[in-house]
Amino acid sequence: MGDRLGDYLSQSIEQDESGVAVKNTILSLSNAAKKIAKFLAKNGLPENQFGTQVGDINSDGDTQKALDLIADENIVTALKNKNVVAYFSEEQESALLLDSEGNLIVCADPLDGSSNIDNNSSVGTIFSILPRKTEDFEAEQLLRDALQSGINQLASGFFVYGPQTSLILTTGKGAAAFLLDKEEFFKMEWEPNLPTKGSQFAINMSNMRFWSKRTRRYIQSCLDGTEGTFAKNYNMRWCGSLVADAWRIFREGGIFLYPEDKRDNYNEGRLRLVYEANPISFLVEQAGGRATDGNTDILNIKPGTLHQRVPLIFGSEEEVNKYESLNK
Ligand code: F6P
Ligand code: MN
Repeated sequence: MGDRLGDYLSQSIEQDESGVAVKNTILSLSNAAKKIAKFLAKNGLPENQFGTQVGDINSDGDTQKALDLIADENIVTALKNKNVVAYFSEEQESALLLDSEGNLIVCADPLDGSSNIDNNSSVGTIFSILPRKTEDFEAEQLLRDALQSGINQLASGFFVYGPQTSLILTTGKGAAAFLLDKEEFFKMEWEPNLPTKGSQFAINMSNMRFWSKRTRRYIQSCLDGTEGTFAKNYNMRWCGSLVADAWRIFREGGIFLYPEDKRDNYNEGRLRLVYEANPISFLVEQAGGRATDGNTDILNIKPGTLHQRVPLIFGSEEEVNKYESLNK
């Protein structure tokens, strides 16, 4: 067995006040993840219709499923751990104030990929941990703290609920992967190190007619294979869950693209900067890859609003560089 998650955190984070708070918060999130995985495992039984749409649309304009809300509630309960001052979620309009003495801000997508809940496909939980800056225990001030650039993250990660319940995590010293075995997360043998080159691309091809010139040119070059300017053959994968596509890219390299396109509401892409793109991009950089909106490294973007969208292109350095170098 590899190291337990708690032991890994004790060794890899300095055990000062802030480090202990980060460690406790990651462990709290891992407890929520264990519960969410259990809910998901029972989904579809007559009394457990977790893929059912509830309410109309969430703050981001997506439909909310029963499991989105269950996941959110479980995270809120787990974060009542005295270390977290405020929680920001895809499922909530604004700040949820927790402990006035807490020194951490947590932002999360409680259930990523919720269109896959009923498909027995992987879904996940994405989280970002930021330092509290304000002394005030007040929603507006704490929102400003949640809107720090991603470069300030103390830790980030995502859980995947799939054939295995797993976690990819960074506390700013590389990335590590963990696997849930019964009640404990253990460190995996494999370590996420993104290969510099890759020959897989992940994009929703059905949006092709709405893409920018640059996205069309990049994907066309992939499709041209050995006969095109990239001079190699590519394979395509698209799970429809960011966490599942990201896990594969961490293992095998390649590129993920959810770029901006011409559809209404997609001129900044689809994914959310604060609780999707930032945590994934911190992991990507810590694993040796790159993440960009096409012009700027994701981690250097200063978020303007909590639910702001951003074009997200990440993966193997060479592929992301090639995308960026194409004219828009
Ligand atoms: O969170 C949004 C999300 O569900 C991601 O997990 C996924 O990558 C994306 O949406 C899929 O979007 P689309 O349905 O447009 O392909
Ligand atoms: Mn999501």
